[in-house]
Amino acid sequence: MKIVAFAGALRKDSVSKKLVQETVRLLAEEHDLDADYVDLKEYPFPVYDSDIEQSIGIPESIDRLGKLVANASILVIASPEYNGGISSVLKTLVDWLSRFKPDPLAGKHLLLLSASPSGSGGVQGLWHTRVPFEALGVHVFPQMVAIPRATDVFDQNDRLVESKAADKLRRVLQSFVEHAVRHRPINGDENHRAK
Ligand SMILES: Cc1cc2nc3c(=O)[nH]c(=O)nc-3n(C[C@H](O)[C@H](O)[C@H](O)COP(=O)(O)O)c2cc1C
Repeated sequence: MKIVAFAGALRKDSVSKKLVQETVRLLAEEHDLDADYVDLKEYPFPVYDSDIEQSIGIPESIDRLGKLVANASILVIASPEYNGGISSVLKTLVDWLSRFKPDPLAGKHLLLLSASPSGSGGVQGLWHTRVPFEALGVHVFPQMVAIPRATDVFDQNDRLVESKAADKLRRVLQSFVEHAVRHRPINGDENHRAK
């Protein structure tokens, strides 16, 4: 099962990046599963604009990301809550990816995570983040993980050491992996064709 993991955030010290990288480590250490971590900062793309699409086409960075997504069967995304909703970079990415026919996202399994310095962990943003993925036929796992007070839960090696948060992530990851194995999703290049 090919797994692609990324954060819906760009900044270097992003707690979302720390959380998704911790999840990649747990997948390897506890489930013997390799996940490819992708940093969206290395794939710059403009806000969706159909004038760009019509004049230049889909950006090359989006084409590369679309291929990565199409070749995976499982996605793990940690994304911050922005003003109660989905982060701007993640929404832009989803909008661009949805322009491929067929959509590379359709049929994938997705685990959603968030981390925030706030007490809520950004859980409201996760409910909003589900919506565009579900609209595109992604199987968003019912359980999600929102880590509160996220600036205090990682050690100097960026390991998630706060026990309540670490337990919750482990528990949900276990259920998600079992679910994804039981319901193997569609996979492969045939699911992605750039226009
Ligand atoms: C534009 C913007 C909107 C934000 N809105 C929320 C919010 O609604 N809820 C929340 O818990 N944190 C909010 N925050 C704070 C983020 O959770 C915090 O900056 C977090 O560290 C961002 O994630 P990152 O560290 O992965 O970049 C917001 C931050 C920004 C920049």
